[in-house]
Amino acid sequence: MDIRIKPLLVLVFIFIHVLLASGQTEDVVYLQALMDNWQNKPPSWVGSDPCDGKWIGIKCTGSRVTSITLASNNLKGEISGDIGQLSELQTLDLSYNTGLTGSLTPDIGSLKKLTTLILVGCGFNGPIPDSLGSLPQLSYLALNFNGFTGPIPPSLGKLTELYWLDLANNKLSGPIPVSDGTAPGLDLLVKAKHFHFGSNKLSGQIPAKLFSSKMTLKHVLFEDNQLTGTIPLTLGLVQTLEVLRLDRNSLSGEVPSNIKNLTSINQLFLSNNKLNGPLPNLTGMTILNYLDMSNNPFKPSQFPSWVSSLQSLTTLMMQDTRLQGEVPLDIFSIPQIETVVLSNNQINGTLDVGATYSNHLQLVDMSNNSISVFAQRSNYPDDLILIGNPACMGMKATAPYCVRSTESNSSYSTPPNNCIPAATCGLYKVSSPNCKCSYPYTGTLTFRAPSFSDLGNSTIYTSLETSMMTSFESNYLPVDSVSLGQPTKNSDDYLEITLDIFPSGDERFNRSGISRIGFVLSNQTYKPPHAFGPYFFIAHNYDYFSDAFKRKRKSVSIGVIIGVSAGGCVLVLLLVIAGIYAYRQKARAERAIVKNSPFASWDPDKGSGGRPQLKGARSFTFEELKACTNNFTAAANIGSGGYGMVYRGSLPNGQLVAIKRAQQGSTQGGLEFKTEIELLSRVHHKNLVSLVGFCFDAGEQMLVYEYIVNGTLKDSLSGRTGIRLDWTRRLKITLGAARGLHYLHELADPPIIHRDVKSTNILLDERLNAKVSDFGLCKPLGEVDQTHVTTQVKGTMGYMDPEYYMTQQLTEKSDVYSFGIVMLELITARNPIEKGKYIVRLVKEAMDTGKELYNLREVLDPILGLSSEALQGLEKFVDVALRCVEETGDRRPKMSEVMKEMENIMELAGINPNAESTNTSESYEVKSKGNSHPYLNDFSYSGGLLPSELEAK
Ligand SMILES: *[C@@H]1O[C@H](CO)[C@@H](O)[C@H](O)[C@H]1NC(C)=O
Ligand SMILES: *[C@@H]1O[C@H](CO)[C@@H](O)[C@H](O)[C@H]1NC(C)=O
Ligand SMILES: *[C@@H]1O[C@H](CO)[C@@H](O)[C@H](O)[C@H]1NC(C)=O
Ligand SMILES: *[C@@H]1O[C@H](CO)[C@@H](O)[C@H](O)[C@H]1NC(C)=O
Ligand SMILES: *[C@@H]1O[C@H](CO)[C@@H](O)[C@H](O)[C@H]1NC(C)=O
Repeated sequence: MDIRIKPLLVLVFIFIHVLLASGQTEDVVYLQALMDNWQNKPPSWVGSDPCDGKWIGIKCTGSRVTSITLASNNLKGEISGDIGQLSELQTLDLSYNTGLTGSLTPDIGSLKKLTTLILVGCGFNGPIPDSLGSLPQLSYLALNFNGFTGPIPPSLGKLTELYWLDLANNKLSGPIPVSDGTAPGLDLLVKAKHFHFGSNKLSGQIPAKLFSSKMTLKHVLFEDNQLTGTIPLTLGLVQTLEVLRLDRNSLSGEVPSNIKNLTSINQLFLSNNKLNGPLPNLTGMTILNYLDMSNNPFKPSQFPSWVSSLQSLTTLMMQDTRLQGEVPLDIFSIPQIETVVLSNNQINGTLDVGATYSNHLQLVDMSNNSISVFAQRSNYPDDLILIGNPACMGMKATAPYCVRSTESNSSYSTPPNNCIPAATCGLYKVSSPNCKCSYPYTGTLTFRAPSFSDLGNSTIYTSLETSMMTSFESNYLPVDSVSLGQPTKNSDDYLEITLDIFPSGDERFNRSGISRIGFVLSNQTYKPPHAFGPYFFIAHNYDYFSDAFKRKRKSVSIGVIIGVSAGGCVLVLLLVIAGIYAYRQKARAERAIVKNSPFASWDPDKGSGGRPQLKGARSFTFEELKACTNNFTAAANIGSGGYGMVYRGSLPNGQLVAIKRAQQGSTQGGLEFKTEIELLSRVHHKNLVSLVGFCFDAGEQMLVYEYIVNGTLKDSLSGRTGIRLDWTRRLKITLGAARGLHYLHELADPPIIHRDVKSTNILLDERLNAKVSDFGLCKPLGEVDQTHVTTQVKGTMGYMDPEYYMTQQLTEKSDVYSFGIVMLELITARNPIEKGKYIVRLVKEAMDTGKELYNLREVLDPILGLSSEALQGLEKFVDVALRCVEETGDRRPKMSEVMKEMENIMELAGINPNAESTNTSESYEVKSKGNSHPYLNDFSYSGGLLPSELEAK
């Protein structure tokens, strides 16, 4: 070591010791240590006194740090154990820093004065440390939206002051811990009002001990876990309950009868379980707004008379609950009723909504029942659906209520506030409701159990905007206005609304402004109107701090200094030239982006046409998708196709997605891309793979789809996934896929021809429902005229319609042809072309319509059992398939006819075409392990012989 440095080091040591001895600002040492583990340090954390008022996010009492709030500050790195030394700390909020990763240090357990610990929407993983149980003052604990694994530590039961416990949207597993005399458990948290545990992997029974009359819980949210057993009787003792969500578990048995004692409940979700006792009697739950009991195999019962006594009801969801008999007309005149969904039951007799049904009534879905008569009056709700009832047979088949689909298209976005939005705002800036261009802080508000279901009433959003502005103003936050948009129900039945918060004064927020706004939302200081129920906010990264720009400039000057001290003028010159060049390139690239980016200057004024009209699909940044695929690692790559690579990713909310990333050269113009995602985002059907979002950023084009767990139909037919598809399942898959295609052809607006229907483009979800995928690359109908479209021939060998190949005229009948091939695959489990033999020819040659099973035993998939009893309807199925593969399009059926035929076949075979399978794939033989992948566009036609030519050979 250089001798000259030694005295300096000694000085530093002395300095630190003096600091520590004086007890003055010892915290600075630990804050520095904390910061050393972060890549993006808060730039204002400099100097020796964190309490000098300049360190953003730090609050002190005297000379000790008592609060660190740094929400949405783009921090990256880990929290080191040094944090445990900040012994006076009371509040720690690091929410929405997705770059904070690693496991949570157990040293947090040393912060004995901590009352508030908030780490919402970060990237933490590993177990929740036991030591959190030794924070005697802790009253607010929010760890939701991370990747925490392992069990809920029983030690949390020692947090006697706890009021808020949010562990939702992690990967927690194991049982809900309760005390047992020696170990603590959550039943001891008698001050807790909130147990938010949804969307984890918690299993086992809900312990009876968890609940007692001492508990004061308001929100019990256990949805979307793997809980089993019965609902404990003790739940009926928690008189304070306002929201109860137990849906999407595997709960069975009877609903305890004392549940109706819970007369403070506003929202009750018991749906998607295996509850098989009698329907509970809920008389007396007079302030219940939202009741969802759907998809449970309750004991068959008449429509319960107590429903009409629930005079606060807005929403009644009871599809597939084995209801029988007639529906009384008085349920439609419940004063606030908005939605009644009773589809897939055995309701019969006459349906009458009455002459004076509630004027809030929006949707009445009675599809797939046995209603024989609709007592039509002069007016009835706009959205009344009776499809699949005898009342829709014959003459009535074309009545509006017999053809309507359930698409609801509510759209809302905050309108300009009596001003004219700027025509363009410049890159990344957005015009606020007050028509000022600035860089908004954006994110998604998610409401876990709203009391209403009518998303089209703009009054509710206005009330949300007003209450939010009031809260920001009373907390003296630098907010000009807020803008809400795109309200949608997601697959968890949560209401999601996008939120843009605009800065007042300056055109951008500073770091302290953002972290204070973030805290108001992460700490639930802001309380929305009661009707919205429990909520959380997840912010997007805020990339527009002015210091982020300054820092870039500074790093250039550091480079220059190094150059100078290296003593080379040439080097300096080179650096300067390189700098100028880089600057020019950057400016050019930015101009190109602006020119090519239809999203750059989104304008909330809908008329301007700038902003893409997306329904539910969200825009991802490149960084976000990079993070959720681990920087597009090979491990995340699940295949490649004509379009580019396909990656599997996990969004911060835990949702699995399949990301199609266009390769260089395959990208299209910005406008085309915009048109495509607008089209895709409008397509919503349960038998179609839906678009979650897209990325148009950093020169990339990516489409983000929901990830479908059980892979392709082909993989299951070939035995690769281990899922055994029996005849019933195959019929259901055929019907499901037919429904999806029917939707594309006849209900989508504009209609869509798939162009590449094949068994690798039909995916199976966890309940083995068919989902048609890869219609992303299809063109809407009507580009040339209404009947056909002329395009370059595209498709896959073995599935391609010979008429299309020869004439190059594309119609939806080409999809019907390919679908016929898939149907033949479904019965034979063979490739369309195998050993040079075409499947159509194979079947036709073996077929003898005079014999049992058309004499097809030798070509059928042996797994099917091959007896006439096991294969009811096989002959009809073959008939339909062969009609689909007729030579010319005009002799082939439409998808709607295929759908009807399939329904008939299933009914004759005694299978309810509309019953959802209640089993998940967990109960099937082997879990999916297939290595080939669904989202591929493999095997696409690239010259070669066509099946018809093959046949001719
Ligand atoms: C709760 O329900 C049970 C059974 O339904 C009843 O016996 C009991 O009195 C009720 N308790 C309260 C506090 O209402
Ligand atoms: C439901 O309970 C109420 C009283 O709590 C009772 O009057 C009514 O008869 C019950 N209804 C049914 C269908 O059991
Ligand atoms: C409706 O179904 C019930 C059995 O669930 C039956 O008793 C009743 O007769 C049926 N009513 C009509 C009008 O078909
Ligand atoms: C919209 O909501 C408001 C407040 O909840 C309510 O007063 C109003 O009647 C609703 N409008 C409609 C058409 O349902
Ligand atoms: C967090 O919010 C609660 C109310 O929800 C409030 O009582 C508490 O004071 C807040 N914490 C801080 C540090 O402001």
